[in-house]
Amino acid sequence: MTLVLVVDDVAALAEQYAYDLKRLGDYQTMVAIGGEQAVDAIAREAPDCVVLDLEMPGVDGFDVLRALERRGADVPVIVYTGTGNFDRCIQAVRAGAAGFIDKNEPMERVVRDIQTVLERRRLEAEVKSLRRRLDVESSLLGDSEAIRKLRETIAKLAPIPSPILIMGESGSGKELVARDLHRLGANPKAPFVALNSAALPESLVESELFGHERGAFTGATATRRGAFEAAEHGTLFLDEIGELPLPAQAKLLRVLEERRVTRLGGNRSLPVEAHIVAATNRDLEDEVGVGRFRQDLLFRLNVHVIRVPPLRDRRSDVPALADAFLTGICERFGIRKKRISGDALDSLMAYDWARNNVRELRNAVERMVISADGDVIGPEHVPSEIVEALPPKAPGRDGRSYQALRTEAERQIVIAALERNGWHVTRTAEELGLADHASLLKIMRRLGLQRPSS
Ligand SMILES: Nc1ncnc2c1ncn2[C@@H]1O[C@H](COP(=O)(O)OP(=O)(O)OP(=O)(O)O)[C@@H](O)[C@H]1O
Ligand SMILES: [Mg+2]
Repeated sequence: MTLVLVVDDVAALAEQYAYDLKRLGDYQTMVAIGGEQAVDAIAREAPDCVVLDLEMPGVDGFDVLRALERRGADVPVIVYTGTGNFDRCIQAVRAGAAGFIDKNEPMERVVRDIQTVLERRRLEAEVKSLRRRLDVESSLLGDSEAIRKLRETIAKLAPIPSPILIMGESGSGKELVARDLHRLGANPKAPFVALNSAALPESLVESELFGHERGAFTGATATRRGAFEAAEHGTLFLDEIGELPLPAQAKLLRVLEERRVTRLGGNRSLPVEAHIVAATNRDLEDEVGVGRFRQDLLFRLNVHVIRVPPLRDRRSDVPALADAFLTGICERFGIRKKRISGDALDSLMAYDWARNNVRELRNAVERMVISADGDVIGPEHVPSEIVEALPPKAPGRDGRSYQALRTEAERQIVIAALERNGWHVTRTAEELGLADHASLLKIMRRLGLQRPSS
């Protein structure tokens, strides 16, 4: 319940105010007679809001405000004077008061002011907590060589105005990379606009991208700015670009070539100032091969490519990621932080996360938090589909062919050696006793292994 403290040197007035506030605002109330009592009461009772008379003998309202400031007390204070002297009220606001009221104002109005102040407090706290979460969520976690290289590439490419293409499996962190590019780019304060063509009906894609003039098509009742305009000097993130319908691809290509955009149904073209970042989990070369993606558009986009490695190629990141998700999830659930046992972590590190990579890991951790009653998450809490899919400790158990098992084992050996050597191909080839780095590259190609990023 909300506790409001009323401070006045005249006890009868304070009591009357408190009584009215309780009746009209349904607040819990208490009174302090004079400034000295007020400072004590605030320290002892931590009220949610203070209504404070400025004119009091001895310790006056200003003294109270100063005392609160000195102690770093964070309670909102609404002040009033009995004299109608607004200059003094304004001075008080400068000294830290959240607002002022006139002693003669109807109580309903005072209650509304208190509500407004409290609501503002609540919103401020919420924004702060959301910001904190965003900051945490928008940075790539992990300390594997692959992630370190990825961070380096991001830092190098972020200031460059040319288009950037991010490639990576589903849930591997492409959007995080795009946000980091924006954060480290020339205009981090400018908007970051994300457009996912897969999530839009084909008929809307172009109008979302380029905007439209009123009457451009049936249903276009008002002029609308498109994503290119909305992104202004910031970043336009074209997510799942592989899903863009061919006609829209043609228009997009023209916009990228001319660096000007025209709204549908419009005849005035506007300069494109946004940094274009595209992402895909498809192999766009393949898509070009089967005629679903324009080659000329691919050439426009793939001058700078960032490859986000799948989680199974950087297993050493799993513990740090799992721990960060664990912290966030327990915080969100409002429970004490749990711990993942070594055995459970082993299973998470051995799993290949092929379906949804980091997102899949986060979901698994959330399910494990819920299924573990105690403080420790053990192997028995690891989701069954993960346990069942783990590579067999005794080869052949899961009925895979000898050939498949051997390839998987080889893959693991090569990845481990690469990680040990920071993905330095020559050094790794030496460690493995191969003839030269070309032999290793050949093996990597056969195993479908790519360097973390180009
Ligand atoms: N390196 C990382 N550190 C911390 N969180 C990560 C990391 N990579 C991915 N995530 C988290 O995993 C989730 C999936 O990441 P993101 O949305 O960036 O992937 P994506 O490649 O865009 O996926 P999709 O292909 O499904 O669009 C997000 O919640 C993201 O915060
Ligand atoms: Mg994404």
